[in-house]
Amino acid sequence: MRTPIIAGNWKMHKTPAEAAAFVRELVPPLAAFDDVERVVCPPFLAIPAVSAALKGTPVKVGAQDVHFEDQGAYTGRISPTMLQGYVEYIIVGHSECRRDLGHTDEIVNKKARAALAHGFKPIIAVGESLEQNEAGQTESFVSAQVRGAYAGIPAVEVMNTVCAYEPIWAIGTGRSASAQIANDIIGGVIRKTLSDLYGDEVAKHIRIQYGGSVKPDNMAEYIAMPDIDGALVGGAALNVDSFVDLVRITSETLA
Ligand code: PGA
Repeated sequence: MRTPIIAGNWKMHKTPAEAAAFVRELVPPLAAFDDVERVVCPPFLAIPAVSAALKGTPVKVGAQDVHFEDQGAYTGRISPTMLQGYVEYIIVGHSECRRDLGHTDEIVNKKARAALAHGFKPIIAVGESLEQNEAGQTESFVSAQVRGAYAGIPAVEVMNTVCAYEPIWAIGTGRSASAQIANDIIGGVIRKTLSDLYGDEVAKHIRIQYGGSVKPDNMAEYIAMPDIDGALVGGAALNVDSFVDLVRITSETLA
């Protein structure tokens, strides 16, 4: 019912030339897996080269962030209009942006709405810190993040969003949330919150990814879970073989 989506978040890796060479290598082995949506999210500077290299292929392009205004005095920022024609997806609310750039729930909400208004599909990232997790605050915190991010987004647009549950303590640490725990939060907190906001019928069509130290050797456990619809992947998306493995394992596990 929900097409699985594997998205590579390259973070601050690869020059434009490296990125274009990488995706040219990536396309042929990924071509077989049309049952999985395949997305790469390069740094802004590499987006035009990657987008050109992927034109006419089934691999889609995403951005890692966006400003919510179309233009203005915002040094160093990129607007939705600048991304038009280059990307289909935009990650908003990644924990590294929340941490380093001060992206609050309110700002994340503005970004998600601006992305939707310009025809993009936001990948809305949420997730708790280690302290919140250990203090038993995961459910209330993640639910509040979801409510904040989706505020004012109408039901007709919500199907164009993807949500990503990324517990901060699992990102880049090699310490992933168990598939069962990830499924419990994704189903019992995120999808439940979306159901409270939009009703059951809508909520069961929204795709929700897990992210945080996803690798080929744990991909099958996650994707086998009923509420997990794919992965947002950092480290393991930077290598052609491992990204292809993530997509292949997803396809084979769901077949
Ligand atoms: P990781 O990063 O796969 O390297 O843990 C995930 C992310 O930050 O999206």
